Amino acid sequence: MPRSKRSLIETRLQKRLRALDMNDYGHYIEYLFSIEGKTRELPFFIDEVTTNKTSFFRESTQFDLLAALLREDRGLTQRHGLTAWSVASSTGEESYTLAMIFEEHRKLDPLFFYSVIGTDISSSVLATAKAAVYDMKDLDTVPDAFVKPYFLRGTGSRTGQIRIHPIIRKNVRFSQINLLGDEYRIETGLGVIFCRNVLIYFDKDRQEKIVRRLIDHLRPGGYLFMGPTEGLLDAHRPLSRVAASIFRKPNSYV
Ligand SMILES: C[S@@+](CC[C@H](N)C(=O)[O-])C[C@H]1O[C@@H](n2cnc3c(N)ncnc32)[C@H](O)[C@@H]1O
Repeated sequence: MPRSKRSLIETRLQKRLRALDMNDYGHYIEYLFSIEGKTRELPFFIDEVTTNKTSFFRESTQFDLLAALLREDRGLTQRHGLTAWSVASSTGEESYTLAMIFEEHRKLDPLFFYSVIGTDISSSVLATAKAAVYDMKDLDTVPDAFVKPYFLRGTGSRTGQIRIHPIIRKNVRFSQINLLGDEYRIETGLGVIFCRNVLIYFDKDRQEKIVRRLIDHLRPGGYLFMGPTEGLLDAHRPLSRVAASIFRKPNSYV
């Protein structure tokens, strides 16, 4: 993380220092890197230093564009199925939105099949993503046409909650990947990668490195969707720009 984030991080970690009855960041760091700290404290640390804000259909024009690409780019849909990766999935809304867009496309092309993989560094957001249970108010950003077919309303003790329909859930899985880690345990040959609102946490060198690694996981002709406010990097250069923040890997990429 850039040094400019230092005071923000200190503020967020105050809660952990209080919980552990510590009054000094040096002791906290020592504990965090100890054998016990790595298992007991690291998940709390990760939750405090990450921002998990997300929503269904966030930046909805990107999903409209994806739906148009599915209709128009036969290369994207006519292979052996399409796998999409949401690389910082947070609580799962982005991954499920992708699956809903793909499921809608199946109405036009019943032979089309897909899967979505959502990954994140934080185990607690991944637990929420896997449970697929949200608040009714989270439907505010969902277009009306998607509510009835893809969400189940809770009753009894679940009143006020919604759950993603099994038709969507069966095509979506989640696992833990740290974008700064040595290895991305995920297949290559992906048709679509969404990497939105996460690179902002990293310095330029790390952003470049991450984007290069993501491109390696994309199949030729596949698409990379970035956050609308995230800048252009050198790593994007070999790709062609389809629209603002959306890139295509050329068929002849080496
Ligand atoms: C603001 S959310 C973005 C969610 C979604 N992509 C969106 O745009 O709505 C950022 C997510 O990045 C995750 N994250 C932060 N650092 C990460 C890392 N090193 N590796 C993987 N995920 C990370 C956080 O846990 C958080 O869930």
